[in-house]
Amino acid sequence: MSPTPGCADIDYAAGLLRNGRLVAFPTETVYGLGANALDSGAVARIYAVKRRPATSPLIVHVASIEMAQLLVADWPELAGRLAKKFWPGPLTLVLHKLAGKIPDNVTAGLATVGLRMPAHPVALALIEAAGVPLAAPSANRFSELSPTTADHVRRSLGGDVDYILDGGPCSVGIESTVLSLAESRPVLLRPGGISRAELEAVAGPVELAGEVETGAHPAPGMHARHYSPRTLLYLTADGKLPERGRGIYLQHSHPADRPNIQIIQMPTAATDYAAALYGKLHEADGGNVDWIAVDSPPHTTEWSAVLDRLRRAAARE
Ligand code: TXA
Ligand code: MG
Repeated sequence: MSPTPGCADIDYAAGLLRNGRLVAFPTETVYGLGANALDSGAVARIYAVKRRPATSPLIVHVASIEMAQLLVADWPELAGRLAKKFWPGPLTLVLHKLAGKIPDNVTAGLATVGLRMPAHPVALALIEAAGVPLAAPSANRFSELSPTTADHVRRSLGGDVDYILDGGPCSVGIESTVLSLAESRPVLLRPGGISRAELEAVAGPVELAGEVETGAHPAPGMHARHYSPRTLLYLTADGKLPERGRGIYLQHSHPADRPNIQIIQMPTAATDYAAALYGKLHEADGGNVDWIAVDSPPHTTEWSAVLDRLRRAAARE
């Protein structure tokens, strides 16, 4: 049963946000740890609570296109088309910020800001009620697994968050696609809920950040090790498991190479898999085992966002 926060909860949480406090809230991708994006003191607390390096910029959440337009130096025609098609939804647009509006610590000193209008009704109601844009990274400690339920948030951040709005499990399950429109051509900084093909249908050719010269694009959230469980994670092919220790196998299509292994069966389709991924990793991480082996999904484009998260979860540094 998913509790639905009522108006009173949302008004209470909005009041906290206006007073510089932190509120975790549901979005369709993952839970966010929100603060008033116009209040640099509140934003500083996000970095402290997450133990996030100051070099990693936050996404600013808005409740309408008009709200986004007030925060940027210019709103390109392409931003309008993309927002019209994909907002509310799992797409973050990086644009040049308007001087003097969004504090520097929100954007890690960059001249650009990532903006997103989330599709979750509780998130939208909260932003409306607060009357300010909300800076919100995923509501977990830096580099750990992202939360897709209120309980994940509670277990990761505990008493360090002033209030948690419980909107049930997130439907998309992995973070938004981050697309920069701050360069001459659109650049995909992070694969996510909206695929590159879907973007290209609206925007024409979209470059991958990796294809751009190193250093040209500040995308500090792209650290190799990210989205990681505490337990050692292996991304494995053809059911091949580590030889030693006790583990859990997240099976997609290949049976494990030996019997008597604890198995979590993952959904077959990519969107269902994405929705289940963090929840299953949290579950496996709580399983008191030596390793988690993940049966690699196919290396096709529909799996690119899931594969990106799995590779980072398996990265050792
Ligand atoms: O789905 C999501 O995007 C979730 C929910 C809560 O909205 N948020 C999220 O935030 O995943 P976070 O902080 O975990 O990831 C933010 C990503 C990072 O990859 C960061 O580098 C990128 O957005 N980003 C934010 N602002 C940017 C900017 N100005 N330039 C380049 N990248 C930016
Ligand atoms: Mg995150």
